[in-house]
Amino acid sequence: MRQHVNPLSKYFQEIESIPKIDQIFKNSFLPTHLDIGCASGKFLFQLAENNKNWNYLGIEIREKLIINAKHKLKEKDIDNLYFIFGNADNLLKNWIVQYPYKTFDSASINFPDPWYKKKHHKRRIIQTEFLNKLSYIMSDKSLLFLKSDVEELYQYMNSVISNSLIFEKVQNKCINYLETFNPSNIKTEREKYAISKQLKIYQTIYKKIINV
Ligand SMILES: C[S@@+](CC[C@H](N)C(=O)[O-])C[C@H]1O[C@@H](n2cnc3c(N)ncnc32)[C@H](O)[C@@H]1O
Repeated sequence: MRQHVNPLSKYFQEIESIPKIDQIFKNSFLPTHLDIGCASGKFLFQLAENNKNWNYLGIEIREKLIINAKHKLKEKDIDNLYFIFGNADNLLKNWIVQYPYKTFDSASINFPDPWYKKKHHKRRIIQTEFLNKLSYIMSDKSLLFLKSDVEELYQYMNSVISNSLIFEKVQNKCINYLETFNPSNIKTEREKYAISKQLKIYQTIYKKIINV
């Protein structure tokens, strides 16, 4: 198992500067999806190549993965995908300052690092303050997609999200998947692994209900 990267380390206080959204995507008027903890970006490459009517932005704390993803992006000449290296919490904080408008029409947090020990729970990505920041940059009534194969983490994240009162759970049957960022139900790398090992996958879709 790989060593998780501690997002609270001083190293991640510094983040790369974020270009303006119209410099990132060829068509900045398309709906835009944010994937937090995108790892190598394989999932996003597939999404971006299959859905030209969406823009995709991936955030990842492991620098090497983003360097490689950016190389691949240049080679493939894809104009509806972009990657940023850094701790998502710091990136969102800067994003709000630089671009104080609702950039994202949906967001996903797929199989975030579990940080099992209680003393490490503060390193988990979903925290009340993080959700506040996320809600600032998400459009009204936009969807947040959450997946995990760790039940205890999933319950923890659900309770933080429910207590925030910013998002409410949406019944799966109320979602028209064809209109979402992932109409063909492409799987992430961790999801493929979980399926191959027959691990139970816990997932919830939330809708932003508070207009901040
Ligand atoms: C278990 S992996 C899942 C990767 C991918 N989402 C998937 O489903 O295959 C979690 C990813 O989140 C990244 N990550 C963890 N904490 C992060 C943070 N604070 N900001 C950005 N990325 C983070 C990790 O480096 C790792 O690549």
